[in-house]
Amino acid sequence: MNPLRRPITRQRMGAQDQFVTMSQQSFESRCLHADGHDKPLQSHSQPIFQTSSFVFESPEEGRQLFAGEKKGHIYSRIGNPTVEAFEKLMTSLENGFGAIAFSSGMAAAMGCSFPFLQAGDHAIVGDTLYGPTTTLFTNRLTKYGIEVTLCDTGNLQEVEKSFKPNTKLVYLETPANPTCKITDVAEVSKMAHARNAIVSVDSTFASPYNQQTLDLGADMVMHSLTKYINGHGDVVGGIVVCKSEEHAKICRNYRKDCGSNLGPFDAWLVIRGIRTLAVRMERHNQNALKVAEFLRSHPKISKVMYPGFPECAGHEVAVKQMRKGGYGSTFSFLMKDGFEAGKKLLENVHLATVAVSLGNTDTLIEHPASMTHASVPLEIMKQQGLTPDLIRISVGLEDVDELIADLSQAIEKSS
Ligand SMILES: Cc1ncc(COP(=O)(O)O)c(C=O)c1O
Repeated sequence: MNPLRRPITRQRMGAQDQFVTMSQQSFESRCLHADGHDKPLQSHSQPIFQTSSFVFESPEEGRQLFAGEKKGHIYSRIGNPTVEAFEKLMTSLENGFGAIAFSSGMAAAMGCSFPFLQAGDHAIVGDTLYGPTTTLFTNRLTKYGIEVTLCDTGNLQEVEKSFKPNTKLVYLETPANPTCKITDVAEVSKMAHARNAIVSVDSTFASPYNQQTLDLGADMVMHSLTKYINGHGDVVGGIVVCKSEEHAKICRNYRKDCGSNLGPFDAWLVIRGIRTLAVRMERHNQNALKVAEFLRSHPKISKVMYPGFPECAGHEVAVKQMRKGGYGSTFSFLMKDGFEAGKKLLENVHLATVAVSLGNTDTLIEHPASMTHASVPLEIMKQQGLTPDLIRISVGLEDVDELIADLSQAIEKSS
């Protein structure tokens, strides 16, 4: 059963009217409460521990903390209470064992892949990814003696064929950036687990509101916090949520060694962003459907790659593994008159902003071939279906009729 359609049971107890267990609360309530009520000095908002070090009561206490004989804080690269409150919140929203917050989505992509591989291992990597993630795997990982196979993970037979005796990791995005390729997480996870390989999924396009990736079978889910989770375009960050204690430990130690931790103020901003995640996502989903329908019916648009449309590859899998009606608000479309028409469209929008990133409260529009995916070699772009006539839009929370009117006038001027 799709975990997002599971009936929600809530129980209340006692005079203080507290919920019994967080896991029984709805997603909406967890966005507001799952960072915990046990804040210092009875603070209602989560305090910001803007400090690098924590004071030891005695040299003996310092020794005990370093030896792991006593629990407590030492140094913010190792652990910080504000960041930990945020990690607790993300663990709950993704139904995991533990979460590790990183300084960017790219650092999180490394956190759920690099520490699980060593020289001589093989990794299967989705052929459609955010541009720098493709480069990270094809240019960097391969320098350390790790073999990488780019694979169309939307095609299960291709995935099956890509396994080797030394495959240790499958890494993919679903929906994938920028074409919204959909991968069946449950089926890929079954294949990988049968071969003792682990599965890490970048679920940034979906957000935990639209897709519960760990419940589908993945071992680790990561997000660029920069997008829907923070939502306000003022933080760069990343998160990895692990289903097992073992993976969480490995990932946390890796972050400690690399120093790619999220700062306390950014963690606080993301906690604040998450307070409205559910309501934002609901409106993102609704607005995106209307904009996608408008574009689909427009004579100057040749194709709309929106997973909610039955004609899109992967639609049936999207229906199975995503929230009902929750296909996110970032998708791509093709201009009938090619690249020049797309360029003119971008030159003429007024309400939508020409900028990279996605999942902001306002609408962003960009040209992946020359912007977010410019680092991807041409032959991989072809494999991804990333053509020069492709425009990516992240539909925001504006009045949708005004947004459609803006796109309509810009498309009229495109050729
Ligand atoms: C799907 C996806 N994953 C990862 C990233 C990298 O995130 P960040 O820019 O926060 O490092 C991005 C950035 O656009 C993205 O779109």
